[in-house]
Amino acid sequence: MSVFLEKEFYEMLSEKMKAAVSISCLAAKERGVDIFLIGGIVRDIILGNEIKDIDIAVQSDAVGFCEYLASKYDCKIESTQEKLRTSKVRFNNNVVIDFASTREEKYDSPGVLPSAFNFGCPLNQDVKRRDFTINTLAIKLTGDDKYKLIDYYSGYEDIKNKQIRILHKNSFVDDPSRIIRALKFKERFDFMIEPETYSIMQSYLNNISKDIPLERIKNEFRQYFMINKENIYGEIIKSNAYKLISDNPLKEINTDRIKKMINLNIFKETEIWFLYVACLIVNSNCTDINLNMTAFENKIISETQNMILSGIVDINDNEKIYKKYNDKIDLSLALYFVISGDESVIKFLNVLKQIKVLINGNDLIELGFIPSKYFSEIFENILKEKLKGLLKTKEEEINFVKRHIKKQSD
Ligand code: CTP
Repeated sequence: MSVFLEKEFYEMLSEKMKAAVSISCLAAKERGVDIFLIGGIVRDIILGNEIKDIDIAVQSDAVGFCEYLASKYDCKIESTQEKLRTSKVRFNNNVVIDFASTREEKYDSPGVLPSAFNFGCPLNQDVKRRDFTINTLAIKLTGDDKYKLIDYYSGYEDIKNKQIRILHKNSFVDDPSRIIRALKFKERFDFMIEPETYSIMQSYLNNISKDIPLERIKNEFRQYFMINKENIYGEIIKSNAYKLISDNPLKEINTDRIKKMINLNIFKETEIWFLYVACLIVNSNCTDINLNMTAFENKIISETQNMILSGIVDINDNEKIYKKYNDKIDLSLALYFVISGDESVIKFLNVLKQIKVLINGNDLIELGFIPSKYFSEIFENILKEKLKGLLKTKEEEINFVKRHIKKQSD
């Protein structure tokens, strides 16, 4: 039975999006090429989810098609990927559409980027390269059967049954980042992973190939951990997906501690994914896995490891607390707190971090001191007193210096 999604298309796309698609349809008609909405947008139209990106498959050369579009209508090509024959077009109302030539792909060896061929192939060849049945769906935008749902792998039924299913048994070998994608869609849509797909995923995770695409895996972990749900970390452990990057993850994490850190505002919301990934790898012995970490990310991991090694600090010893945390990156403190629950971090962030010496070098010169390295020793002494709760005002600091600090010449 054919499914037509005209009503859903009109309901789900904004007026501006519909205008841009409509111009694309006119150009396709003039050029005599078939175009289709493809992938995530079709899935989201059916699910009634907000539409963010528009992807159109051109059953011909998309670059040539977009050049025609831009020459005839009020839009411009923003970028083109010659090799993949794709172009991004911005319409005058600011809507952006990604146009891709239909293509086939083959994986020359597992984990590397696939090579593309047969550009302009029939749509049924194109969809074979995709990850899950729910992402193979297309809506025809040209011809007599406009708005017809094109469904070669029963993706529509899978959406209705809320399940994530791969197209062939080598899917995870071809691209293991799909394991995290499967979990991402599961959590995002509240779907289940179809049993055979789940068992193929487990077989792969029990026998992970050496060359895995770490950059893509990192990117999928980033998207996955941005899902704001209580159980997201637990799912990575339960499903064994952690094995892609770690042999010794923290088995569970205390989400109340994460909430505490979020409330203290010490890292940006966009960094939360890293907190989770770090919990997966902080104790790992997989030395050959580095997830293409930046120097900053590596520093956070090593700072945290050192703080763990140095043990929990006595909550009453302000000086020790200050010494331990003062030069650390905030995200390292958050990570250390999430892992250890060491309440002294909270005391540092809420109280001690705010303590600053109020006098400066000029004040010391006025008091008769000669500028030298000795100044920092003086400031340190003042800070120690302040950490004890003493010397609240600048005047008290000056009196302290007058009374207790020897001049170099004395
Ligand atoms: N794809 C794939 N394997 C991957 C990544 C992507 O087969 N590792 C395919 C999927 O069919 C997907 C399409 O490429 O529909 C576009 O990828 P992406 O934009 O990441 O997926 P969306 O489904 O649009 O997901 P999102 O809603 O998160 O943007």
